[in-house]
Amino acid sequence: MARIAVTGRLPEEALHALRAGHEVVAWRDEDAIGRTALLELVAGADAVVPLLSERVDADLLDAAGPQLRVVANVAVGVDNIDLAACAVRDVVVTNTPGVLTDATADLAMALILAVTRRLGEAERRLRSGELVRWGMFVLLGTGLQGRTLGIVGLGAIGAATARRARAFGMRIVFTKTSPADPGLVAELDAEHVDLPTLLRRSDIVSLHCPATEQTRHLVGSAELDLLGPSGFLVNTARGSVVDEDALVRALVDGTIAGAGLDVYADEPHVPADLLCLDNVVLLPHLGSATVQTRTAMATLAADNALAVLAGEPPVTPVATPG
Ligand code: GLV
Repeated sequence: MARIAVTGRLPEEALHALRAGHEVVAWRDEDAIGRTALLELVAGADAVVPLLSERVDADLLDAAGPQLRVVANVAVGVDNIDLAACAVRDVVVTNTPGVLTDATADLAMALILAVTRRLGEAERRLRSGELVRWGMFVLLGTGLQGRTLGIVGLGAIGAATARRARAFGMRIVFTKTSPADPGLVAELDAEHVDLPTLLRRSDIVSLHCPATEQTRHLVGSAELDLLGPSGFLVNTARGSVVDEDALVRALVDGTIAGAGLDVYADEPHVPADLLCLDNVVLLPHLGSATVQTRTAMATLAADNALAVLAGEPPVTPVATPG
């Protein structure tokens, strides 16, 4: 019987699958587990099933011990995991691609609509008791039809967001580090460009690249300047992709028109300067937050852990360096 450490609350379906034949130790509080409790929880584990809020680094792997075989992240992003430290210890890493694509693309589209139509600002004013009535010039936003959406990172979620935007009458330009699938490019009638061109040509830019050393602060003050005073930035990827200080400055001084953010550089901290701005819509990392998607993510993570513990290939492995 293997020992499986689960670092936060999971849907019952996934826990049930893990418990069949294994010992499961799980953090059950709604509040995130603290570091000390986390290191205690993983001690002696053969499998760790972490949430994206938990850092899986060399210290954690050592606290778990040499019997650890798999880290089955309940997220598609693996920036919370030190892949090299896992590789040297022969620990398999898995993630949850695919199952959260539609939910995250839906949320990116929701942020595009919310920021361009000023929904957060409008609702705040209405709830504050201000008499906001129909008026020819009241709370006018920006229409999407005929505008250009720049997708930074045309992976599964970027493509799903682009499909939604096409249904709203938008044109698509995109960046991608690996060659793009010609069928997808034709379907989206999209154009592959470099980042400066994308920023210059886009009315709205939506970020869909993973958080890596290469993408850290990919969007800083120079890039926001290129997006310009009528441009909007939407980030449902990871906070580290944007230089948050530069973004705050750009939103304050009108370098760009607005932003829709689901992710932050130092979650769950949201810079106080953002909280008081009307031209930014702020969400608390809700990309995959539907009942169906969270259940599918947890179930896939459980399937991955169970496969490795059974000596089988995992369903959705992450390539580790070396
Ligand atoms: C969510 O942000 C994920 O990476 O799954």
